[in-house]
Amino acid sequence: MTATIRDLMMSGETLVFGHRGAMAYAPMNTMASFQMAQRQGAHGIELDVQLSADGFPVIIHDDTVDATTDGAGMVCDKTLAALKALDAGAWFAPEFAGERVPTLDEVIERFAGDLLINVEIKSASDHSNGVEAAVSRCIRRHQATDRIIISSFNPLVLQRVRKSFPEVMLGALTGSSPTPETQQAFESLRHEARHPWHETVDADYMRWARDHRYVVNAWTVNAPKRALQLRALGVNGVITDNPDRIAAVFSA
Ligand code: G3P
Ligand code: MG
Repeated sequence: MTATIRDLMMSGETLVFGHRGAMAYAPMNTMASFQMAQRQGAHGIELDVQLSADGFPVIIHDDTVDATTDGAGMVCDKTLAALKALDAGAWFAPEFAGERVPTLDEVIERFAGDLLINVEIKSASDHSNGVEAAVSRCIRRHQATDRIIISSFNPLVLQRVRKSFPEVMLGALTGSSPTPETQQAFESLRHEARHPWHETVDADYMRWARDHRYVVNAWTVNAPKRALQLRALGVNGVITDNPDRIAAVFSA
């Protein structure tokens, strides 16, 4: 049987998650990037999810398609068919021309058996556009709950996921200085993991996290030396743009 994400995160081994795949080497959030992360020895991948105009969870980082495709305009205004017509690879390098914006469905289907998946839901809004329900349905349809952790900077998103999908692992995502309101909102929510910006992690942070029984997955950790420091501090996972370099120092 495939190991569960909870077991792997508690195994004592520091896991390597490829940030948007292996974004130092391939166009972020594409199948090529996820495949690259897998080849480079990552245990898992991190990816960013939004909803298309017709309600499909799609994998793309920005609100607009401008930076990572040959199109222009808001992701939420485009149907899945319109998003699929875009080239999501040529902007990065010619050999990636023809890469498409993947759906969450496609990524889970292709990778959940081999890789853990950190689904980051992108939504700055107080109001739901239905992304939480669509993501939950997709994960359930694939029976992939045991291989996935959902994270978000927005506590309201995690609250909505928790209500309708109590068994999935949740990660509270924080940057350099989360507001007291955000901290408070996360604290009032049952969640299993903290996903802090790595520079906010030190021995005090890890003591606090252990007291709360939180798993800690730090982002974005690209320097091997810093990854080793975080491992020594006891972090459970690192999210990195270059899984090859981090996997190499961890296995040395
Ligand atoms: O999930 C960690 C990291 O991806 C959060 O920031 O902007 O790279 O999605 P961002
Ligand atoms: Mg992200």
